Amino acid sequence: MSEKIQFGVDYYPEHWNSERIETDIKLMKEMGIDLVRLGEFSWSKLETSDNNFEFGWLKQVVAKFEKVGIKVVLGTPTAAPPAWLIKEHPEIQPVDRESRTRHFGGRHHCCHSNLTYRKYCERYVEIFAEEFSKSTNVIGWQIDNELGNSHNELCYCDSCEKNFQRWLEKKYVTINELNQSWGTTFWSQTYNDFEQIQAPKLTAAGENPSQLLDWKRCHSDLIKDFHDEQVEIIRKYSEDTFITHNMMGFSNVVNYYELAEKLDFVSHDQYPSGPFHKEQNRQSGDHQAAELDVIRGIKQQTFWIMEQQSNIAGWDVLGRLPSPGQISLWTVQSVAHGADTIVYFRWRTSAMGTEQYWHGILPHSGIPGRVYEEIKTLTKEIRPIMQQVNGIKPKSKVAIVYSYDQSYAFDIQHHHPDLNYVDHLRTYYKGLYENNISVDFISDAADFSEYELIVAPLQFILTNELAEKYRNYVQKGGNLILTMRTGVKTESNICYTDSPLPGLLSDVLGIQVPEYDCLLDTEVRIKIGDKNHVANKWADLITLTSAEALASYDSQFYKGTPAITQNDFGKGKAYYVGTEMSPSLMSDFIDRLQIKKEAQAAPIGVEIASRESEKLIYHFVMNHTDCIQSFDPPKHWTLYKDDKGTKTIPEHGYLIFIENK
Ligand code: GLA
Ligand code: ZN
Repeated sequence: MSEKIQFGVDYYPEHWNSERIETDIKLMKEMGIDLVRLGEFSWSKLETSDNNFEFGWLKQVVAKFEKVGIKVVLGTPTAAPPAWLIKEHPEIQPVDRESRTRHFGGRHHCCHSNLTYRKYCERYVEIFAEEFSKSTNVIGWQIDNELGNSHNELCYCDSCEKNFQRWLEKKYVTINELNQSWGTTFWSQTYNDFEQIQAPKLTAAGENPSQLLDWKRCHSDLIKDFHDEQVEIIRKYSEDTFITHNMMGFSNVVNYYELAEKLDFVSHDQYPSGPFHKEQNRQSGDHQAAELDVIRGIKQQTFWIMEQQSNIAGWDVLGRLPSPGQISLWTVQSVAHGADTIVYFRWRTSAMGTEQYWHGILPHSGIPGRVYEEIKTLTKEIRPIMQQVNGIKPKSKVAIVYSYDQSYAFDIQHHHPDLNYVDHLRTYYKGLYENNISVDFISDAADFSEYELIVAPLQFILTNELAEKYRNYVQKGGNLILTMRTGVKTESNICYTDSPLPGLLSDVLGIQVPEYDCLLDTEVRIKIGDKNHVANKWADLITLTSAEALASYDSQFYKGTPAITQNDFGKGKAYYVGTEMSPSLMSDFIDRLQIKKEAQAAPIGVEIASRESEKLIYHFVMNHTDCIQSFDPPKHWTLYKDDKGTKTIPEHGYLIFIENK
């Protein structure tokens, strides 16, 4: 479906006078652009007042692109309900947990459970899909925009409260069952019927973690339902076009595994360097690599980048200017991790509105400059390789389990103020990344048998089924790393009480954890072999039953107590890490794993990522640092393009090698 498309841009012709499009099209053609995404925030220009649709201008735009062979993806504009709609129905606006309305004036000013809003969205999408599915130039659709963005606060309006009650009734059937599952005898929270349950608004003191977890799950389901309704409408009109959604890496408001069920493939918005990124990100690519791998893991498929950063990013505060080569490097990195198509955000920097400083390929003036020339060169250089790798994925022997439920549970109870679910996962990812070990992120529902090593951090909520799955995996020969806070809670976020931690998996790990220490304002020293390190945030005080200690604490009153363990179980090995490891400890730990021995070495800041077909492996070697790096490839790797025998990679440069299997 997507073979012919390698490069696109996000284009907003309605922001410019109508003659400008001719210049833009010419520049796009010269640059090597095959596709534009249009329409995703244009509701007020397309339905100018209630039921008054004016599609003419957009049809002309689509026709102009058709003429020159540039394809179109249309976005449904439902993230930006127009002023006339809000005036008619102000109740559409979302309400935060302090009961304050979030008003019109930005975007995402909508409540997904509000039936009036839903009715207007349905009508719009129906008419839009019917009209534009007639154009053969429209090859795909994007639903809404970044669902979950701007919803961190979720919506606590009356309609969302009712929706929550209905969701709970469906899940628990009787109020007694809910009372049991939520432990409502605590602080006299017993409910007599579902109508008494409130959205978890700001309380006088404290909250019920079981209620909060269900609230997050319920909201994720709500957004999926909103999304799927649009997918179903579009499918009625357009069977041979694709439908996708632009996701945001580790954003957890919506469970992406579930959101993606009805999509042909997922897309991702990749912004490696914005005002919110720290300087060190500019010298390592691990953060953006992890996001790409998470996105590939959503459907275990290749994907699109629907918004690839093309210049300075920022709203009121700006990020750094990408250096020469850096936009190309980020593009190649997306491709290396499984992107088949790159759509740049945005074609031209907007003169108006919130995103005046979220720069595009062209500056405000519209005059092509350095970035335009760089991407133009890049499209020529890597299009052939993109055509070859289309649809083929990296092959990973290692997986990290990424779970929305665990992420929600840690959002609700951080334990340590700085403990964060994704950051904790990323300590493992970074350790593996620095050794150029390819990683898949997988759901805990995935098939584990494909992997030699599974890292499953923070398995806080552990159902019997999941514990069984881990047990079987190790039994049959898998290597499993589990960590602190494993086996603590039931599905409804209540602590297990029937055995010491790590509860259901104690025998697999060969340990018990009778006590733990939250390392507030302190760290703990750790000895692994004869090396000294530190660890942070948490210390499980481990008692060995059948495991052996790999590392022990070397300070605090529990000096000498095991911190990291290893246990033979069945045909496999189960490791347990009772703390958050520092980078040097992580590196030492990874050195001890079998998987390390097979990895290809490269200098720090130089990343190797590969896509592997039946016969060939394409290795992308990427220099994220701002100095020249040398790289000595194995003999059987051949350079994809002759670079006159050089073994160096310029700052923010890349080399591509091919290996015959
Ligand atoms: C997101 C959105 C875009 C745009 C960019 C830049 O990724 O999808 O519409 O807002 O961020 O802010
Ligand atoms: Zn609401």
